[in-house]
Amino acid sequence: MEFTVLKKNLSRLYYSYVKKYIKQILVSLLLSIVVAGSTAAIAWLLDPAIEKMFIQQDKTMMILIPIAIILSFAGKGTALYFARVVLIKVGSQIVFTLQKEVASSILTSDVHQLESKHSGQYLSHIQFDVGQVNQLVSTGVLNIMKDTFTLIVLVALMFYQNWKLAFFALLMMPLAAIVAKSLGKRVGKATKESILLNANLSSYLVEMLKGSRMIKMFQREKFELDRSSKILEENMHIRNKVAFIMIRATPIMELLTGIMIAGFIYYSGFMIRSGEMGINNFFSFLTAMMLAYQPIRSLATINMLIYQGGAGAERVFKILDLKPNIKEESSLSNLKINTGDIEFRNVSFVYPKTNDAAIKDINITIKGGSTAAFVGHSGAGKSTIINLLPRFFDPKQGEIEIDKQNIINVTLSSLRKNISMVSQDIILFDDTVRANIAYAKLDASNEEIEKACDFAAATDFIKDLPASYETMIGENGIKLSGGQKQRVSIARAILKNSPIILLDEATSSLDSESEEKVQNAIINLTKNKTTLVIAHRLSTIIRADRIFVLNKGKIIDTGTHDQLLKNSTIYKNLYSKQLSA
Ligand SMILES: Nc1ncnc2c1ncn2[C@@H]1O[C@H](COP(=O)(O)OP(=O)(O)OP(=O)(O)O)[C@@H](O)[C@H]1O
Ligand SMILES: [Mg+2]
Repeated sequence: MEFTVLKKNLSRLYYSYVKKYIKQILVSLLLSIVVAGSTAAIAWLLDPAIEKMFIQQDKTMMILIPIAIILSFAGKGTALYFARVVLIKVGSQIVFTLQKEVASSILTSDVHQLESKHSGQYLSHIQFDVGQVNQLVSTGVLNIMKDTFTLIVLVALMFYQNWKLAFFALLMMPLAAIVAKSLGKRVGKATKESILLNANLSSYLVEMLKGSRMIKMFQREKFELDRSSKILEENMHIRNKVAFIMIRATPIMELLTGIMIAGFIYYSGFMIRSGEMGINNFFSFLTAMMLAYQPIRSLATINMLIYQGGAGAERVFKILDLKPNIKEESSLSNLKINTGDIEFRNVSFVYPKTNDAAIKDINITIKGGSTAAFVGHSGAGKSTIINLLPRFFDPKQGEIEIDKQNIINVTLSSLRKNISMVSQDIILFDDTVRANIAYAKLDASNEEIEKACDFAAATDFIKDLPASYETMIGENGIKLSGGQKQRVSIARAILKNSPIILLDEATSSLDSESEEKVQNAIINLTKNKTTLVIAHRLSTIIRADRIFVLNKGKIIDTGTHDQLLKNSTIYKNLYSKQLSA
């Protein structure tokens, strides 16, 4: 990552998230000064300890100095503890805010924005990347303050004890800085790789879990294990790489310290002999120098923390900056449903990153309260037409009107409130039957829910479930049969009670008894509602007031079942091959 980009992200992180905790940071800054002061006090106390206790053998000092040493350590420990507590709280508060914002951004993003990335990648952003920001805020910020102050105070003490030696020690510092800088760059690159791999791993795990049944049927356990081993192994390597670079600073710093101490002892030998320095100054200086080792090492690696935190923030900000094209404009008026007429005028649509239009020049008028059926080969564009109505996507060309109001000129919430959708792939949450149905109307009474289930012909099977309405149905309703899932989703749509119904009939066929139940449920759902149905069942098609035959994205024929049987070859074909089967 470029330095300017890093700076931009860090300043955004600061101004938008960290700044409001400036009081807490100031508190930990004060506590850091206490830590620094007491660390230096420990080193300084060795000076009077040697002079007063060992050389002069002062009785009072023999008690006072050990007490002072205990107090210094206690002061350091307490101050450090509270500084950490304060910043850990700030860090997790920022994690909370960021995660909430990522969640909100995901919830308001467009369908196609979300689908351009694997869901595993979002998991990685919300956990891993936010975690790196947390590291920076809670550990990084404290280390910068505490270690800088400690270092300053210790160096001051060293100068106080003997400026010549201190000057000599200071010469070594720029060396450490150079080492740190080169390591920072390398760790940055490795971290980037590790983050990509982490996102890949999350994506893979999501697929592996979702595909468990398919994996078993194709007996691809070994294949998948090999695949996962590969990803896990790559992760291991990169994890090692980052960790190794991080600790590479240690041996170099150890060596530098060793050289410093050796040179320093060598030099002090002369000075003590010539009476230029006392033994007491020597020990105090030595202690200060030893204690300076930890903050130097920590500061040498601080740029890695900053880099990782900045890079994590960058990826999180990218999600936060997703600007939905299809969004709620509060300035718009609400959709007013009168009869529920629907009109498509010259509507064309191209999926992002594809060349051919999925639907072309669609012109249809559907009278309020009537049922329009769409039939056509797989991939003809039936689901696409239906998905345009609740604005999952906006048409590339043309207009869609409901009761003469263009759907892009009314609020999204009023539009979607008036449309119920029972989709081809039923989506249910891992929750109770009741909660899944009540999702359509959160404050629905028990009577309302049960009535909806009655209309959806779902009451019988729900009563037979282990805990009736309170039965947990598992991930995406895995504990229900296909027909049961359909009826739960129909009950949910019935409860929503909206004037427009979009129905993408499931292609999977059910046994005739369940089939009849689902059909009855659908009849109840669509009664007196403007209904757009993608029909695979003959019974649905015959019941429709008007049928549109789609081929390669175009409407090629319209009419009733009987008219189409006479006039449309494609319809005749579809009918004889699929529908009557
Ligand atoms: N998200 C998408 N991105 C890109 N292309 C898509 C996407 N969804 C569908 N398509 C393409 O658009 C065309 C129409 O798809 P659509 O889902 O509307 O077909 P359909 O008539 O509903 O078929 P089926 O009866 O199989 O459900 C297809 O060629 C398909 O490949
Ligand atoms: Mg479809």
